[in-house]
Amino acid sequence: LRRMKDMDSVYNKRILVRVDFNVPIDPQTGYVGDETRIQAVLPTLNQLLRAGARVVVMSHKGRPHGWDETQSLAPVVRYVQSLLDYPVRFIDSIVSDETTEAVNALKPGEMLILQNLRFDPREQANDPEFAKALAALGDAYVDDAFSTAHRSDASIVGIPQYLPAYAGHLMETEVMTLEHILGRPARPYWAIVGGAKVPDKLAMLLRLVDKLDGLVLGGAMATTFLAAKGYPIGRSLYGQGLETQALDILSKAQARHVPVILPEDVMVAPAIGPNVPSRLCALDDVHDDEHIVDIGPMTVQRMAEAIEASRTVLWNGPMGVFEYDAFAYGTLMVANKVADMRCAVVVGGGDTVAAIAKAGVSSRMTHISTGGGALLQWVEGEELPGLRVLYA
Ligand code: 3PG
Repeated sequence: LRRMKDMDSVYNKRILVRVDFNVPIDPQTGYVGDETRIQAVLPTLNQLLRAGARVVVMSHKGRPHGWDETQSLAPVVRYVQSLLDYPVRFIDSIVSDETTEAVNALKPGEMLILQNLRFDPREQANDPEFAKALAALGDAYVDDAFSTAHRSDASIVGIPQYLPAYAGHLMETEVMTLEHILGRPARPYWAIVGGAKVPDKLAMLLRLVDKLDGLVLGGAMATTFLAAKGYPIGRSLYGQGLETQALDILSKAQARHVPVILPEDVMVAPAIGPNVPSRLCALDDVHDDEHIVDIGPMTVQRMAEAIEASRTVLWNGPMGVFEYDAFAYGTLMVANKVADMRCAVVVGGGDTVAAIAKAGVSSRMTHISTGGGALLQWVEGEELPGLRVLYA
């Protein structure tokens, strides 16, 4: 791995830094809901700024289709500025003449943050011209976005084609720590997987089953399995069209004697939002106009018993729409349960990390990874494209 200590002097050099500022924004206040991913890149940013680099920071946020103000990085930039003792500028542009001018105007020890890279569709298409235009903004490139290392986007795998590329401190620490804890995990080794990014993670689960002694499912992930098993799911979020894949995972797990724990009771609500009442419901009683918003108490109990004897636990993805207090019960219970475990506990993913913070148990985890999908991909043994370009 090429690291920051392998870099030549950065004084007065333009250093392009890819970070992951894809952080949850609290729907009720509009402020940054969890700062973990921001705090995690401060060592890299501070080191570069202290050494007199002219730092150009790039990130994506959300999954916008085109220019979308609701996914602007502006609220994140204000927060970053409050954490750094160096001037932080923001430009509502990605590659343009204005950006080039703003970068040229940077003095040593100053930082410029570009607008959300995904406002330009060429980022996710890994367009070589776009990568080249981004690379032209720097003299060297540092990737500190472990949580996006599973994406083959222009800012991740494209830029290193044109510039010397190095792993930032966060990238390096994540890889070393995960290797240490999960490289040869103490067994039994269980994973708890929830969340809403079902299409991405379902394919990973199929391979993950090979590595685990047991699997607990919650959130929209679990709802996909319930739909596949023929249960009514009303208007719930789930991986539509992925039912066969879900059944394949169950058959594979069964063939390998890996237990898969699915919800046995759920909380449902007529809508998703603040102060919406929810009701406890049996799996076969979800009405057509209802949304599954959380797991029920029987499920929590069952899950807690299932992981009790584990010596390694990996958790990614909340059990429900925990952003709203009324739907947070299951996720907070799981957070407390893993905090009480006397074993190695690795927790990762933007929302999951926000959930353990909400439960007040962050300090009781063995490792909090900034990665969600990237973490799962690392665990199932698939090479991360963003890491591959930093070796060699
Ligand atoms: C994440 O939150 O896992 C990363 O920021 C990657 O986001 P993506 O799944 O939208 O690519």
